[in-house]
Amino acid sequence: MTNQELMLQALDARKNAYAPYSRFTVGAALLASDGQVYLGCNVENAAYSPSVCAERTAFVKAMSDGKRAFAAIAIVGGPEESILPGEAIYPCGVCRQVLMEFCRPDFRVLVGTGPESYTEHTLQSLLPHGFGPHNLA
Ligand code: THU
Repeated sequence: MTNQELMLQALDARKNAYAPYSRFTVGAALLASDGQVYLGCNVENAAYSPSVCAERTAFVKAMSDGKRAFAAIAIVGGPEESILPGEAIYPCGVCRQVLMEFCRPDFRVLVGTGPESYTEHTLQSLLPHGFGPHNLA
């Protein structure tokens, strides 16, 4: 699975977003270490706070499928009326903390607008000095 393929899958995942309140649709494609890809989209709720980000949707799907090791995630998003995202969006703080629970510091985070336009980051760079399971070991 190349970075470009993962970005394409994130674009596909965004099509299923349920975001009637923010009208901001997000897709994520999470690559497990065994090569399996899990897609996620944001799923909003009329009570607002139960809303879930695309990244966490993908993680919950993978965890519930028994996966515990992950290599990378690709994320795309933007206003629902733009079929192609206009700019890169980075994971929110809550999602960074969720990444911290399940991923190593060199876990790759791809953000951008498509397979030809993305940047690659590490979890370590997005959440330096993060609190995680190692603190409770
Ligand atoms: N959202 C995500 O799904 N992932 C992000 O990285 C940023 C924000 C969602 C949450 C909400 O449904 C909408 O985008 C607007 O914040």
